[in-house]
Amino acid sequence: MNIPQIESNFRELDDILHAGYAPNVISTAMELGIFDALFEEPMDARTLSDRLGTVYEITEAFANVLVALNLLAKNGADYSLAPLSKDFLVKSAPAYQGGMIAMTSQYGQIMEKMPETLKNGPPEAFDSGMWANAEFMKVMGQGVMGGSIQDVTGFISALPEFPDLLRMCDLGGNHGFYTMALIDRNPQLRGTICDLPEVARLAKEVISEMGYSDRIDTIGCDLETDGSIGKGYDLVLVSHVIYAWKGHLEDVFERIGDAMVPGGVFVSNHLAMDDDCCGPISGTMMELMTRLGGYPTHHLSEEELKSALAACGFGDFTVRPAEDGRQYRSLILAARKLE
Ligand SMILES: C[S@@+](CC[C@H](N)C(=O)[O-])C[C@H]1O[C@@H](n2cnc3c(N)ncnc32)[C@H](O)[C@@H]1O
Repeated sequence: MNIPQIESNFRELDDILHAGYAPNVISTAMELGIFDALFEEPMDARTLSDRLGTVYEITEAFANVLVALNLLAKNGADYSLAPLSKDFLVKSAPAYQGGMIAMTSQYGQIMEKMPETLKNGPPEAFDSGMWANAEFMKVMGQGVMGGSIQDVTGFISALPEFPDLLRMCDLGGNHGFYTMALIDRNPQLRGTICDLPEVARLAKEVISEMGYSDRIDTIGCDLETDGSIGKGYDLVLVSHVIYAWKGHLEDVFERIGDAMVPGGVFVSNHLAMDDDCCGPISGTMMELMTRLGGYPTHHLSEEELKSALAACGFGDFTVRPAEDGRQYRSLILAARKLE
């Protein structure tokens, strides 16, 4: 028998393939309430299976997978929550990410059609009507609690201009949570959520529900058309909105500049990949799914943001590198409108 000579280690591939079942395990654990049960107290597999009404032998193997995924810790026979599940997977946790995880798992539908979409292109163009959904807006709002709102508000409130800011625009602001967090930190700041007309209408309801109607208003505007986004802002925040303008970001930056006072600050919060666009793995997958879904991109590089901003009269950049992002690999960049 000729035994093949091999240069690499199949286990690497085997681990990748088995890790592909992780989302199933995590969704099932959330559905069964494992993290909520272990939040109350650590317990062994027998107690856990009695509590959940599941088969002991399978529950034990199931909990061990969660340990291998660093979502549970095992001490003797007892399982307990690891920091990741305590922060993000317990339903009562303030940064609970169940809604975002359920939304992310729907991307699977796009991936199932991958061979035909790769050959024939996406079946239909991206529908921006999907944003105007109150449930979806709340899920996205809760989603930013997982690190993004901490990063963005920390970055903006550390800017030297922050204590003097008076009027901000959250362009494509949707749920408006970033604006709420920022005006909480600056008592003289007032905000405007500017978004597609139907989204702005729903945002007004969210703002009222959250008790911010006296300091936050809304403007309905489609950035693809030439409606007004308002005037006189000393801060404009744009978070995960302008990917579709890749290649012609100047179109949107010109309009933003016109709406700002001289010396005002523009802040961008958008995903960024490694320079060769081949990492990290979450970024490459997101980019693939985005393009399979008929949307042009989900990443903007520091270089393209800076060069388009400079062409529109912005400069004096402050950057928080994407590697420091706690929830996503988001590059946060501030630019001043030059006088
Ligand atoms: C991914 S969400 C980002 C929401 C929020 N800024 C955040 O970071 O969580 C993108 C937002 O951009 C808005 N948007 C997309 N296209 C737009 C357009 N042409 N004009 C105005 N807003 C738009 C959507 O309605 C949606 O609220």
